[in-house]
Amino acid sequence: MKMVKILALSALLSVGAMADETLALNMSQMENGLSNVQKGFLYNAPALIKGGVSEIQKANALFHNVDASKKYLPKDKQHMSNIAFNAAKRIDSASADLLKALNKKEYSKASQSYSEIVNACTACHAVVRGW
Ligand code: HEC
Repeated sequence: MKMVKILALSALLSVGAMADETLALNMSQMENGLSNVQKGFLYNAPALIKGGVSEIQKANALFHNVDASKKYLPKDKQHMSNIAFNAAKRIDSASADLLKALNKKEYSKASQSYSEIVNACTACHAVVRGW
Protein backbone atom coordinates (compact mmCIF):
# COMPACT_ATOMS: atom_id res chain seq x y z
CA MET A 1 0.00 0.00 0.00
CA LYS A 2 2.78 2.35 0.99
CA MET A 3 4.63 1.48 -2.21
CA VAL A 4 1.53 2.23 -4.29
CA LYS A 5 1.21 5.61 -2.60
CA ILE A 6 4.84 6.39 -3.21
CA LEU A 7 4.52 5.38 -6.86
CA ALA A 8 1.38 7.45 -7.29
CA LEU A 9 3.04 10.41 -5.64
CA SER A 10 6.17 10.19 -7.74
CA ALA A 11 4.07 9.86 -10.90
CA LEU A 12 2.19 13.01 -9.91
CA LEU A 13 5.41 14.83 -9.18
CA SER A 14 6.95 13.87 -12.50
CA VAL A 15 3.84 14.99 -14.39
CA GLY A 16 4.22 18.30 -12.58
CA ALA A 17 7.90 18.48 -13.46
CA MET A 18 7.11 17.72 -17.10
CA ALA A 19 4.54 20.52 -17.20
CA ASP A 20 7.16 22.87 -15.73
CA GLU A 21 9.70 21.89 -18.36
CA THR A 22 7.19 22.25 -21.19
CA LEU A 23 6.17 25.66 -19.90
CA ALA A 24 9.76 26.86 -19.53
CA LEU A 25 10.61 25.68 -23.05
CA ASN A 26 7.51 27.32 -24.53
CA MET A 27 8.14 30.58 -22.71
CA SER A 28 11.71 30.71 -24.01
CA GLN A 29 10.28 30.21 -27.52
CA MET A 30 7.77 33.00 -26.86
CA GLU A 31 10.61 35.25 -25.72
CA ASN A 32 12.83 34.38 -28.67
CA GLY A 33 9.97 34.93 -31.13
CA LEU A 34 9.07 38.25 -29.54
CA SER A 35 12.66 39.54 -29.68
CA ASN A 36 12.90 38.54 -33.32
CA VAL A 37 9.70 40.44 -34.06
CA GLN A 38 11.10 43.48 -32.27
CA LYS A 39 14.44 43.19 -34.08
CA GLY A 40 12.61 42.82 -37.36
CA PHE A 41 10.80 46.11 -36.80
CA LEU A 42 13.97 47.87 -35.61
CA TYR A 43 16.13 46.66 -38.49
CA ASN A 44 13.34 46.83 -41.08
CA ALA A 45 13.60 43.11 -41.77
CA PRO A 46 10.12 41.68 -42.55
CA ALA A 47 11.41 38.09 -42.78
CA LEU A 48 12.65 38.30 -39.20
CA ILE A 49 9.24 39.60 -38.10
CA LYS A 50 7.44 36.76 -39.86
CA GLY A 51 9.74 34.13 -38.40
CA GLY A 52 9.27 35.58 -34.91
CA VAL A 53 5.49 35.62 -35.23
CA SER A 54 5.43 32.02 -36.30
CA GLU A 55 7.58 31.06 -33.30
CA ILE A 56 5.14 32.86 -31.00
CA GLN A 57 2.15 31.17 -32.65
CA LYS A 58 3.67 27.71 -32.22
CA ALA A 59 4.55 28.28 -28.57
CA ASN A 60 1.21 29.91 -27.79
CA ALA A 61 -0.62 26.81 -29.07
CA LEU A 62 0.17 25.32 -25.66
CA PHE A 63 -2.77 27.35 -24.35
CA HIS A 64 -5.30 26.06 -26.88
CA ASN A 65 -8.23 26.04 -24.44
CA VAL A 66 -9.14 27.04 -20.87
CA ASP A 67 -8.19 23.66 -19.38
CA ALA A 68 -4.83 23.56 -21.12
CA SER A 69 -4.12 27.08 -19.89
CA LYS A 70 -5.15 26.20 -16.35
CA LYS A 71 -2.67 23.33 -16.20
CA TYR A 72 0.28 25.68 -16.52
CA LEU A 73 -0.82 28.20 -13.90
CA PRO A 74 0.33 28.03 -10.28
CA LYS A 75 -2.30 26.23 -8.15
CA ASP A 76 -3.39 29.39 -6.35
CA LYS A 77 -4.00 31.17 -9.68
CA GLN A 78 -5.90 28.41 -11.48
CA HIS A 79 -9.28 30.01 -10.77
CA MET A 80 -8.16 32.81 -13.11
CA SER A 81 -7.56 30.47 -16.04
CA ASN A 82 -10.16 32.37 -18.09
CA ILE A 83 -8.09 35.53 -17.98
CA ALA A 84 -4.98 33.55 -18.91
CA PHE A 85 -6.76 31.88 -21.82
CA ASN A 86 -8.09 35.26 -23.02
CA ALA A 87 -4.54 36.58 -23.04
CA ALA A 88 -3.48 33.63 -25.19
CA LYS A 89 -6.39 34.31 -27.57
CA ARG A 90 -5.34 37.95 -27.81
CA ILE A 91 -1.85 36.81 -28.80
CA ASP A 92 -3.35 34.66 -31.54
CA SER A 93 -5.55 37.35 -32.99
CA ALA A 94 -2.87 40.06 -32.71
CA SER A 95 -0.42 37.71 -34.47
CA ALA A 96 -2.88 37.15 -37.31
CA ASP A 97 -3.50 40.94 -37.58
CA LEU A 98 0.22 41.58 -37.57
CA LEU A 99 0.82 39.21 -40.50
CA LYS A 100 -2.11 40.66 -42.44
CA ALA A 101 -0.76 44.19 -42.05
CA LEU A 102 2.76 43.06 -42.88
CA ASN A 103 1.63 41.41 -46.09
CA LYS A 104 0.04 44.72 -47.10
CA LYS A 105 3.29 46.51 -46.14
CA GLU A 106 1.39 48.48 -43.47
CA TYR A 107 4.32 48.50 -41.07
CA SER A 108 2.99 51.02 -38.55
CA LYS A 109 -0.21 49.08 -38.22
CA ALA A 110 1.76 45.84 -37.91
CA SER A 111 3.86 47.33 -35.13
CA GLN A 112 0.69 48.19 -33.19
CA SER A 113 -0.19 44.51 -33.26
CA TYR A 114 3.28 43.80 -31.93
CA SER A 115 2.52 46.07 -28.95
CA GLU A 116 -0.79 44.28 -28.49
CA ILE A 117 1.10 40.97 -28.29
CA VAL A 118 3.42 42.38 -25.60
CA ASN A 119 0.40 43.65 -23.64
CA ALA A 120 -1.22 40.22 -23.83
CA CYS A 121 1.96 38.48 -22.60
CA THR A 122 1.91 40.91 -19.69
CA ALA A 123 -1.79 40.28 -18.98
CA CYS A 124 -1.13 36.59 -18.35
CA HIS A 125 2.08 37.24 -16.42
CA ALA A 126 0.20 39.73 -14.24
CA VAL A 127 -2.22 36.95 -13.25
CA VAL A 128 0.51 34.39 -12.72
CA ARG A 129 2.74 36.71 -10.73
CA GLY A 130 0.09 38.69 -8.85
CA TRP A 131 1.36 42.00 -10.30
C1 HEC B 1 -1.52 32.01 -20.63
C2 HEC B 1 -0.50 32.57 -19.81
C3 HEC B 1 0.78 33.09 -20.42
C4 HEC B 1 0.95 33.83 -21.58
C5 HEC B 1 -0.12 34.26 -22.56
C6 HEC B 1 2.35 34.12 -21.67
N1 HEC B 1 3.02 33.60 -20.61
FE1 HEC B 1 5.01 33.73 -20.25
N2 HEC B 1 4.77 32.74 -18.49
C7 HEC B 1 3.60 32.14 -18.06
C8 HEC B 1 3.85 31.38 -16.85
C9 HEC B 1 2.81 30.55 -16.08
C10 HEC B 1 5.22 31.56 -16.55
C11 HEC B 1 6.01 30.94 -15.38
C12 HEC B 1 5.81 31.69 -14.10
C13 HEC B 1 6.60 32.98 -14.00
O1 HEC B 1 7.65 33.14 -14.63
O2 HEC B 1 6.16 33.87 -13.26
C14 HEC B 1 5.75 32.41 -17.61
C15 HEC B 1 7.07 32.81 -17.68
C16 HEC B 1 7.64 33.48 -18.76
C17 HEC B 1 9.05 33.80 -18.87
C18 HEC B 1 10.11 33.47 -17.82
C19 HEC B 1 10.50 32.02 -18.01
C20 HEC B 1 11.55 31.59 -17.04
O3 HEC B 1 12.16 30.54 -17.34
O4 HEC B 1 11.75 32.21 -15.99
C21 HEC B 1 9.23 34.41 -20.08
C22 HEC B 1 10.54 34.88 -20.67
C23 HEC B 1 7.93 34.50 -20.71
N3 HEC B 1 7.00 33.94 -19.87
C24 HEC B 1 7.69 35.07 -21.95
C25 HEC B 1 6.43 35.24 -22.50
C26 HEC B 1 6.18 35.96 -23.72
C27 HEC B 1 7.22 36.66 -24.57
C28 HEC B 1 4.83 35.91 -23.93
C29 HEC B 1 4.03 36.50 -25.04
C30 HEC B 1 4.45 36.32 -26.40
C31 HEC B 1 4.25 35.14 -22.83
N4 HEC B 1 5.26 34.75 -21.99
C32 HEC B 1 2.91 34.87 -22.69
C33 HEC B 1 2.37 32.26 -18.65
C34 HEC B 1 2.09 32.95 -19.82
